[in-house]
Amino acid sequence: PVRFIGNRSSGKQGYAIAAALAQAGADVTLVSGPVALPAPDGVRVVRVETAEQMLAACEAALPVDIAVCAAAVSDYAPYRIEKNKIKKDRNKTPQFIDLKENPDVLQRLSTPGAARPSLVVGFAAETEDLLDNAAAKRLKKGCDWLLANDVGSENIFGADENHVYLVTDSGIVEWERAGKRDVAERLVREICDFMNEEHHDRSDRNRPDAA
Ligand code: CTP
Repeated sequence: PVRFIGNRSSGKQGYAIAAALAQAGADVTLVSGPVALPAPDGVRVVRVETAEQMLAACEAALPVDIAVCAAAVSDYAPYRIEKNKIKKDRNKTPQFIDLKENPDVLQRLSTPGAARPSLVVGFAAETEDLLDNAAAKRLKKGCDWLLANDVGSENIFGADENHVYLVTDSGIVEWERAGKRDVAERLVREICDFMNEEHHDRSDRNRPDAA
């Protein structure tokens, strides 16, 4: 009831992406961990506190065309949630907390299948070997695009600016450092281009003379 395992993410980038998608006309469900941010206009917000709840809320939102996973989900969670505050016991220090592995929301949403979104975008927060780690992470998770940022040397957590690299199957493109809203708008422009191409491909396939 007193302490929890959290992280340094403010949620600003994810909220900015949800707002920019809604502004572009998308029907947006924002599944959000605990953050101190107001709900963006025109967005349905589902609040969760654990990775398991986040996965369940994301799966309940399917089918969707696009999934963007910007949450800094913890890889592990405590096995047991104590009913009462864990008291300091001088005879028993240090105390250990048993951890269990959390589900990986991005990996689950990227799994091939009928309900897989056409485009799945993840993030990579790295403190070393940014581009190599990000390229490997995109393949491991099975997502289409990954926005990678260096959270070790640059001031990103809680900041209003972000410096990201877009990693796709055609390579890596650096986006100059910009406000998180600008990064969100740029991502939404890329998503719109992708959706337009998808739409054209699909209408071409549906032409009666198409092979
Ligand atoms: N992610 C997720 N569920 C988790 C952990 C991460 O959906 N349990 C997603 C994040 O939302 C992000 C991406 O996976 O889009 C990468 O998160 P990151 O913290 O960079 O990587 P990890 O998966 O934690 O891998 P590692 O700890 O090895 O860097």
